[in-house]
Amino acid sequence: MKTQVAIIGGGPSGLLLSQLLNRSGIATVVLERKSRDYVLSRIRAGVLEWGTVEMLREAGAGARMDAEGAVHGGCYLASEGAMFRLDFNALLGRNVMVYGQTEVTKDLYAAQDAIGATILHEVDDVALHDLATATPRVSFTQNGQSHELTCDFVAGCDGFHGVSRPSIPAEVRHEFEKVYPFGWLGVLSRTPPVRHELIYAAHARGFALCSMRNPMLSRYYIQVPLTDRVEDWSDARFWDELKARLPAEVAADLVTGPSIEKSIAPLRSFVTEPMRWGALFLCGDAAHIVPPTGAKGLNLAVSDIHYLSEGLIQFYAQGDPAGIDAYSERALARIWQAMRFSWSLTTMMHRFPDSSDYDRRMQDADLAGLMRSEAAQRVWAENYTGLPY
Ligand code: FAD
Ligand code: PHB
Repeated sequence: MKTQVAIIGGGPSGLLLSQLLNRSGIATVVLERKSRDYVLSRIRAGVLEWGTVEMLREAGAGARMDAEGAVHGGCYLASEGAMFRLDFNALLGRNVMVYGQTEVTKDLYAAQDAIGATILHEVDDVALHDLATATPRVSFTQNGQSHELTCDFVAGCDGFHGVSRPSIPAEVRHEFEKVYPFGWLGVLSRTPPVRHELIYAAHARGFALCSMRNPMLSRYYIQVPLTDRVEDWSDARFWDELKARLPAEVAADLVTGPSIEKSIAPLRSFVTEPMRWGALFLCGDAAHIVPPTGAKGLNLAVSDIHYLSEGLIQFYAQGDPAGIDAYSERALARIWQAMRFSWSLTTMMHRFPDSSDYDRRMQDADLAGLMRSEAAQRVWAENYTGLPY
């Protein structure tokens, strides 16, 4: 088999890259380890920056999002009893879109099917070869048969546990990591969201988040110790704990119901540099992980694809490698800004097991400063709604 760009991973970053390249006449093959149903069963991100919204439209995959997604002009931050609204629309004239990653992925698959793109599912043993040459290769197996794909470039869009990042020699990679001493327990339930907008709540018992997918589908999270398992949390225990962490007037309005999905995700910040080695480009979670507090993971995957697709299109249309040569530096500049925002929001809102009274006063002062200062709110809103590409 032969193609121009081999794409490892059929999550949002791989599918969006494939879609944008195909629309510019560049041939791709997507290799995905799991089945399509499995990829679509993962419940993940919910908040799209406006740049992400525009990228999905540009890819021809934005129609259902525009019809069914919810435009939000603000969100709430709460601490113990107090709650205030950050009005990003009034502060900056900007919004975010609440539309689940599951739906984004479904729409990208539909758009890929409509243009006849090649996506191979349930492939195993993917290995990258000759990346430092002009003739890279990807080997894999499917249904027990061995295959080889030759290409010009490889896009590593295979998430944090994929094969692409370890294909860069260890002595070339510089990895930066911070592991947080807690995780998020997430619950999806067929209940009306407690408020029309998201609530990020700091509390002595730990952080809580109220989010949603649509008017009859809620997504809630609470901070839990890393030692907890999903089985430790009955639905009743989860709802009681969530209510205890929310302001009383919000807790009083909470409609509970059976969970339809429940999972625990550890929190981590991770970046690898550089994001290009020879013919290989790393994109999305393959190159970086942010804690979910800032809602940046999926949005960073999309901004990576913005820079890479632009560079590859420039290369194939004009023979000009400037865009692909600048990819790693351009992507990383934006990634580190989102890293800083996600880290600072995580640090401000969570209970750390080893924190001192002094540390907690710093968290209180951070939140009080944000509540008091319109200038601070503008900076926060600029980061939350998404920095420019
Ligand atoms: P992935 O979605 O991980 O896709 C990688 C794909 O590669 C997968 O389909 C995988 O099966 C495949 N793959 C892996 N290894 C191989 C292999 N060896 N061969 C072939 N294929 C392989 N982000 C936000 O922006 N906003 C949010 O509100 C938000 N909330 C989140 C909440 C939770 C609980 C979690 C866990 C994440 C959240 N994120 C959020 C982060 C977001 O989900 C990720 O950043 C996003 O999925 C990254 O997309 P990706 O395509 O780079 O990677
Ligand atoms: C979600 O709805 O899953 C979600 C929303 C905001 C976040 C993280 C997750 O910061």
